[in-house]
Amino acid sequence: MATKNKTVYVCSNCGMDYPKWYGQCPSCKEWNTLKEMNISTSSANVPAWGTKSSERTDKSSPINIREVEYSHTQRIDTMDMELNRILGGGLVRGSLTLLGGEPGIGKSTLMLQLALRAKGIRTLYVSGEESPSQIKMRAERIGVTNDECYVLSETNTESIFNHVKDISPDLLVIDSIQTLYTSTSDSAAGSVSQIRESAALLMRYAKSSGTPIVLIGHITKDGTLAGPKILEHMVDTVLSFEGDRNHIYRIVRCIKNRFGSTDEIGIYHMSGGGLRVVENPSQALISQYNASLSGNSIAVTLEGMRPIMIEVQALVSSAVYGNPQHSTTGYDTKRLNMLLAVLEKRVGFRLSSKDVFLNITGGIRVDDPALDLAVVASVLSSSEDISIGDKVCFAAEVGLSGEIRPVTRIEQRIAEAARLGFNIIFISRYNKVRIEDYPSIRVMPIERVEQLIKLCFS
Ligand code: TYD
Ligand code: MG
Repeated sequence: MATKNKTVYVCSNCGMDYPKWYGQCPSCKEWNTLKEMNISTSSANVPAWGTKSSERTDKSSPINIREVEYSHTQRIDTMDMELNRILGGGLVRGSLTLLGGEPGIGKSTLMLQLALRAKGIRTLYVSGEESPSQIKMRAERIGVTNDECYVLSETNTESIFNHVKDISPDLLVIDSIQTLYTSTSDSAAGSVSQIRESAALLMRYAKSSGTPIVLIGHITKDGTLAGPKILEHMVDTVLSFEGDRNHIYRIVRCIKNRFGSTDEIGIYHMSGGGLRVVENPSQALISQYNASLSGNSIAVTLEGMRPIMIEVQALVSSAVYGNPQHSTTGYDTKRLNMLLAVLEKRVGFRLSSKDVFLNITGGIRVDDPALDLAVVASVLSSSEDISIGDKVCFAAEVGLSGEIRPVTRIEQRIAEAARLGFNIIFISRYNKVRIEDYPSIRVMPIERVEQLIKLCFS
């Protein structure tokens, strides 16, 4: 058996490997991310293309799909209604979940809360970042006690498995995957190969034992998981903790889910006693709305499957310096520029020479095109210094020729606005709704942006 060492170059961003070095990774286009790695290859690794069943020793065998047994009760209740909903009904047994987010957003808090709250479930919370006493301090703040929650400060994957054998937990939390190292790889902790090897070992354990594992992962400033993207491909579920840690609201979004939909989000706020579920997000997000001020408007957006009312604020002022500024928080600046161009070309508002600032309140990022009409209304309201009436909201897309376009799930949006006591909702005429279904709210279908101006600002 001939064994030889081979050198490959592995990208620390995306995990691709190449036989030679490049300054820029050909796959993910990151610069200076290729690191040299030695792997041993032996001729024994060359697969033989099939042997007869009498000569084989492998354990797996194909089963006819009609005979595969499957039960519906394989989920663990996390005792957190938002988390249960995002995961599609709870944590699936034997699943590997990745929870990513920026430092300080609340990943450790969310997972410790889960470990403390889950009743009748033995949890092992492994931290490579904090000591048991620090974890205990956090638990005191959360204010829940659980006899079946064990904490371990450890970074060696093999040692973790030894403790897992002793405790045999029903749920394993790893905080964070970037701190783990395994003796099977000789590179430094946090490097791609260490993360990949450790995650692969954990996945094998999850699948063979049926124990769900949650991996916490750090995210870099540009929003990618620090280290290999390869983790996202390996795990069953990817949850992303979003929001600004300076704001009170935090969003947990499901990016990938092998056991449910990826449409759901959960909204939390960080309180003095841990993360609390925001039970009525619409109410919370528009609670500061002041209808008498110009530049403010309310949009009905969709977050996952849920309609949510959100406040849009615009400020239009004369540009002090030559180049006007168009800046946004929580909204796409290019989309704002497009809407300003539509207003200029179709209705003659010369706004591109002015400074325009746009803000979605609550620190939430929205990509829903249904926000367009509210953005246009806010900008016009600020520019004309006319406030939009109380209890008015918007849900429609604005097209390049100034036409008001239909949006998805309009019925739920109208129902949400009616539930929160709004009197008027502007929608597209092309959204087929039966106005008589909504007796408590006036539905105003419009066709062009000029109509909005006539109805609201003249
Ligand atoms: P943490 O969960 O440590 O974030 P991550 O693991 O994502 O880095 O907590 C984030 C912040 O939340 C931290 O600055 C302290 C704060 N916090 C509270 O405000 N209230 C609490 O009850 C807890 C436990 C933390
Ligand atoms: Mg942490």
